[in-house]
Amino acid sequence: MPTGIITVSYIAATILFILALGGLSNQETSRRGNLYGITGMTIALLATILGLVTANYNILIGGVIIGGIIGLVLARKVEMTQMPELVAILHSLVGIAAVLVGYANFMDPASHFSGVEKTIHDVETYLGILIGAVTFTGSVIAFGKLSARITSKPLLLPARHWLNLILLISVIWLCFDFLDQSAAGSGIVPLSIMTAIALVFGIHMVMAIGGADMPVVISMLNSYSGWAAAATGFMLNNDLLIVTGALVGSSGAILSYIMCRAMNRKFLAVIAGGFGTSGGVPAGSTEEAGEVISINAEEAANLLADASEVMIIPGYGMAVAQAQHIVYEITRILREKGVNVRFGIHPVAGRMPGHMNVLLAEAKVPYDIVFEMDEINEDFPDIDVSVVIGANDIVNPSAQEVPDSPIAGMPVLECWKGKTTIVLKRSMATGYAGVDNPLFYKENTRMLFGDAKDSLENVLAILHS
Ligand code: TAP
Repeated sequence: MPTGIITVSYIAATILFILALGGLSNQETSRRGNLYGITGMTIALLATILGLVTANYNILIGGVIIGGIIGLVLARKVEMTQMPELVAILHSLVGIAAVLVGYANFMDPASHFSGVEKTIHDVETYLGILIGAVTFTGSVIAFGKLSARITSKPLLLPARHWLNLILLISVIWLCFDFLDQSAAGSGIVPLSIMTAIALVFGIHMVMAIGGADMPVVISMLNSYSGWAAAATGFMLNNDLLIVTGALVGSSGAILSYIMCRAMNRKFLAVIAGGFGTSGGVPAGSTEEAGEVISINAEEAANLLADASEVMIIPGYGMAVAQAQHIVYEITRILREKGVNVRFGIHPVAGRMPGHMNVLLAEAKVPYDIVFEMDEINEDFPDIDVSVVIGANDIVNPSAQEVPDSPIAGMPVLECWKGKTTIVLKRSMATGYAGVDNPLFYKENTRMLFGDAKDSLENVLAILHS
């Protein structure tokens, strides 16, 4: 294939990826954004396979078919609640690919760089392998934490900051050693030691991060996987990979910043780890005193029917129960009765960015009644009934009221300021951050225990009757 066609295809793919990102920023245009992304990736793959590859077609096509089938099966099988785990494990593949390509590139006998060019190429290889290795093990641990195979409690080794500093200094020192040795025709030893250090660092970095900070970690690993791909693009001299990697890397970095702001956290503090356990009431303690007032579905239905302002606050439990369709049915009936129903969405509700928006869009809840936390948090004093559906950390008043709470400072939806709050959950268990929730013991809170879908089905039946 002529180079001109490859270049044009790569430019077209780049434009489509940018349009995809733009489309995904809004629910109404997200479907279109996805289509742009799929088309861009198809063009990119075709141009690379038909234009750049010149040999070993059997291995390539075999790999594409096997990879494609695995991807298809995973995508069809995965539950919405497992999406974050899937994303985490997919990031790990980008990381390991960067490491393998880096080694293959370093050992390539056909490599013909010399002088400054060789040094630059070696630095690209070193960085690609470094970022790839951190992304690989970090993502595997994130997968373990998100799928509850590994405890979400942070692993706080004594002197862990010193350990990280020593690892960082060793990696910088090894880089110079690698450049010297590579110029003399070797270098595999420092490269291998650095890879081992980066793999350990990836494990340690994510193990040290507490449950409540996982949203930031996911978007941070997303960003790392982008930079690893960009470094691979430099290594392979592939412009499209550089641009795509930079797009993923920078959008992941922006998302990490948004997540940090949503949780009132400093990025470096997140990386330093430990959030979710520090001082005060230990995570998961059950010291919280007080009476809990529980109600049944009929009482909940009556409260809703008598209200004129209702705020629905969905959380991870709504996703687990798959209750979004019933929620929409109840919303429809209440709106028909003249009740003003709105949805309040916390930026880290659920287990991935935009998790609740996706579920509500799937249930066809109109976008104009779905509000971000900042848009509606001041309206709670005028709300008659807030319905908290399988949410916990995002409505925990201790974030504001208990200065030494592990989640102190995280902005939350202030539903307790309304007249009544109905909380739907199955037990008194804590949420993802493992912190007790004083909301459940407030005078104006009513607990409707049970699976959210079952409870809401009962409420719906009574509203219908
Ligand atoms: P959580 O704090 O995790 O609380 C979810 C609640 O849902 C639990 O207390 C659970 O109580 C209840 N629940 C589970 N299954 C249920 C079911 N079938 N029916 C009814 N209730 C059910 O969720 P949240 O309030 O959405 O907060 C999100 C948390 O996840 C934050 O800590 C956030 O930092 C973290 N996180 C977020 C992300 C992103 S990007 N959104 C990523 C990783 C982590 P019971 O067991 O008693 O039912």
